[in-house]
Order: sequence, then C-alpha cells, then structure tokens
Amino acid sequence: MRIVAAVTGASGAIYAVRFLKACLELGVRVELVVSDYGHRLLIEECGLNLKAETIEAWLDRTYGPGRPRTGSITRHGEGEMGADIASGSQRWDAMVVVPCSMKTLSGIAHGSASNLVERASDVTLKERRPLVLVPRETPLNLIQLDNLRKAAEAGAAIVPAMPAFYQHPRTLEDLADFIAGRVLALLGVEHDLFEPWKG
Ligand SMILES: Cc1cc2nc3c(=O)[nH]c(=O)nc-3n(C[C@H](O)[C@H](O)[C@H](O)COP(=O)(O)O)c2cc1C
Repeated sequence: MRIVAAVTGASGAIYAVRFLKACLELGVRVELVVSDYGHRLLIEECGLNLKAETIEAWLDRTYGPGRPRTGSITRHGEGEMGADIASGSQRWDAMVVVPCSMKTLSGIAHGSASNLVERASDVTLKERRPLVLVPRETPLNLIQLDNLRKAAEAGAAIVPAMPAFYQHPRTLEDLADFIAGRVLALLGVEHDLFEPWKG
C-alpha cells in the first residue's frame, strides 16, 4: 500500500509520529510532506528535528528498535509542487493529514492547492481516493466548523484528535495510538494498536 501523509502545524505531533511508526511496522509505503509549521511542532512537542535526524533514527532513540520496519518513508518539501504526488496520474491509495491545522483545513476545504499538502489533498479528492483529516483545535469557531463540513461534503473523513478513554490509556502513546488506529482503519490497513471494544 502507498499512501500520502502530511504533517501540519497543529498541536499533536505525537499523533503523526505514532501513525508513521505504525506505517513503517505494517509495511506501508509513505510519501511524507511536512509543512514548515509541522516541522516546528515536531521539534517543540517531540524533539524530532527532521533537518538533523530521520524519523527512523528518532524512533530508535525514543522507543528502541521495536518491530521490524517493512514500510518506507519518502520525504517531500511543502513547496515541491512538481513532486509526483502533485499529480493524479501518480497512483497512491489514500492520504491523511495528521495533525491538520485550521489553516490547512481551510486550504483543503476551499481547494486552494497553494502548497504540496493542499495540492495532494485536492488531487486525492478529485481522484476519489480516501482522504482522512485529523484536525486539532479547540474551541472551534463557525468558520472552522464550516470548513470541516465543506471538507466532509467533498469526501474527506474527519477524525478529530479526540482519543477515547474506554481503552484505559496509560501513556500519551496509548492515546495517540487510538487515533492512529482509527486513521489506519479508514485507510484500509489492519492494525493491532488497540483492542476493539468488546461490550
Ligand atoms: C506552538 C504552536 C501550536 C499551534 N497549535 C495549533 C493547533 O493546535 N491548531 C491549529 O489549527 N493551529 C495551530 N497553530 C497555528 C498553525 O501552526 C499556523 O496556523 C500555521 O500557519 C499552520 O500552517 P500549516 O497548516 O501550513 O502547517 C500552532 C502554532 C504554534 C506555533
């Protein structure tokens, strides 16, 4: 499976790194776009500076080697409008924006295509491929709510960064894995990041 993953400048960088960790361990090929503010939030919240370190090295340093990594991550800059994932003639199966800032949400809802995150989202929608957005902001104003509605009407699945507590999470990673797992399920990737509710 080949997916596009975008990381933007909303709080919740841990959602991105836990999602990418799972993709690497589940054999998913990831085309990764990190916005400028996405870079900043990865540094501020996770201590991951992608200009100095790979995600794989950061994962080793933070969590140990873990499971074998059969997936891959290919990086693209947010300004690279000539990247292959800017064109619908390229094949990818689905896209996720995790976390998704209100600014990027607005760009997607209005079809701005002003950077590679927005353009790849635009292409994903026009090619009728699954697009999952993980917005994070609180409280939400009417413009933001309207942009969420617009994106949903255009075909995006909205997975707010709202982890559940019925799994009795013990760590921040448990909370983030709940959201990563919900995203993977929408992308059609089987995972064991949390136990399904059994009633
Ligand atoms: C520390 C920090 C935290 C932020 N948290 C959020 C947030 O949770 N949600 C949001 O929509 N924007 C947040 N922002 C603002 C966005 O980063 C800003 O709107 C930026 O232009 C988004 O650009 P991007 O979508 O291209 O990454 C935050 C900014 C900073 C510096």
